[in-house]
Amino acid sequence: MASHWIDIVEMLLRWLHIITGIAWIGSSFYFIWLDNTLEPPEPGSDNAKKGVAGELWAVHGGGFYNPQKYAVAPASLPDNLHWFKWEAYYTWLTGTALLVVVYWLKAQVMMVDPTVAVLTTWQAVGIGAASMVGSWLIYDALCRSPLGKRDALLGGIVFVLLSALAWGLAHELGGRAAYIQVGASIGTIMAANVFFVIIPGQKKMVDAMRAGLMPDPLDGKRGKQRSVHNNYFTLPVLFIMISNHYATTYSHPYNWAILMLMAAAGVSIRHFFNRKHKGVLAWQYPAIGAALLFTVGWWTTPHLVPLPKVEGPVTFDQVRAIVGERCVTCHSPVPTFTGITQPPAGVLLNTPAAIAQNAQRLYQQVVVTRIMPLGNVTHITDYERAVVAAWIAAGAPAK
Ligand code: HEC
Repeated sequence: MASHWIDIVEMLLRWLHIITGIAWIGSSFYFIWLDNTLEPPEPGSDNAKKGVAGELWAVHGGGFYNPQKYAVAPASLPDNLHWFKWEAYYTWLTGTALLVVVYWLKAQVMMVDPTVAVLTTWQAVGIGAASMVGSWLIYDALCRSPLGKRDALLGGIVFVLLSALAWGLAHELGGRAAYIQVGASIGTIMAANVFFVIIPGQKKMVDAMRAGLMPDPLDGKRGKQRSVHNNYFTLPVLFIMISNHYATTYSHPYNWAILMLMAAAGVSIRHFFNRKHKGVLAWQYPAIGAALLFTVGWWTTPHLVPLPKVEGPVTFDQVRAIVGERCVTCHSPVPTFTGITQPPAGVLLNTPAAIAQNAQRLYQQVVVTRIMPLGNVTHITDYERAVVAAWIAAGAPAK
């Protein structure tokens, strides 16, 4: 019963995380587009005199909109000023709660992979938590250092440091967990940018104006820089959110490098759109992105690990025995493996019919990607993998 309600909570958190994430990333895309598309008003016009730095016209949902951006701030502030922050905070809160429910509470199954490193539950969770906090502290210190004035160099260094993080996590945790923890670190940086820099800066500007003073443009500039960083983080983070469906990426021997290639492709493609908003069609960026994505496709082509030779014909009973011993603790209607509350991925392997039906998927997981049994917790041998391969080669007879 309790495990059922944990599953329901997980489902609702996932739903909410996507909803708030869409709201946040959607507004990030919108405001970057807005900023890049604004046109300066005619010199000497009323708008120019009011301090408007740029404006545009748009039509949407049957209405016409005319947003204007002030160089620093308008002469007086309206009473009703809209802020954008809750979508960021809720995305982080739901994402972190999801991380705890899906990964941290089941760390032995979902995070620890003895073939990568032998860790206790607390070590795995500690590494995950430390990577999130540490990433923010280092990133924030870099942005505040003199490097903060050199955008391209700063971007490059952040990329190299995130690669180091991905490398480190991939050498401590199972691939899926390493990916998710890199995503959680980037997500933490993004939400902390809003919480610690963008919103406080805006508050200072508003307070100054309400006190009849001129706001410090530096607060605006600093917020803008973090907001642009967040914009470039979006595509890599979105890939990480869906990466757990693509075992060929996270189970690759160089999974951290695959992740960074995907991230670089995302940043490059995002950059194309940001340039395009300014009217520049810089096709080299999507071309770089496409080349990187192709590299990932090529590099993740499965290579079968050589398996021992199997003597004689393989019978279905042999396969059943292997599956019974190595798989059904998790893949049955009521799994007995601690931490697994329902058949993972909905895959049942507890009856002959179910094994026959899942023959191809079973082969994929056991022989091709070698992801199952997860972290090889049930100690399948290479000989047994070879039996599965021989069974498939013989047409997967179910008798
Ligand atoms: C410790 C528990 C555990 C054991 C043991 C285990 N699995 Fe899994 N299996 C999982 C989990 C968790 C997932 C879900 C992974 C995901 O969501 O991508 C999964 C997913 C799968 C899938 C679906 C993957 C896909 O996306 O198509 C297959 C097929 C599978 N397992 C086969 C096996 C086979 C065959 C064995 C035995 C050799 C096995 N599993 C042993 C936990 C386990």
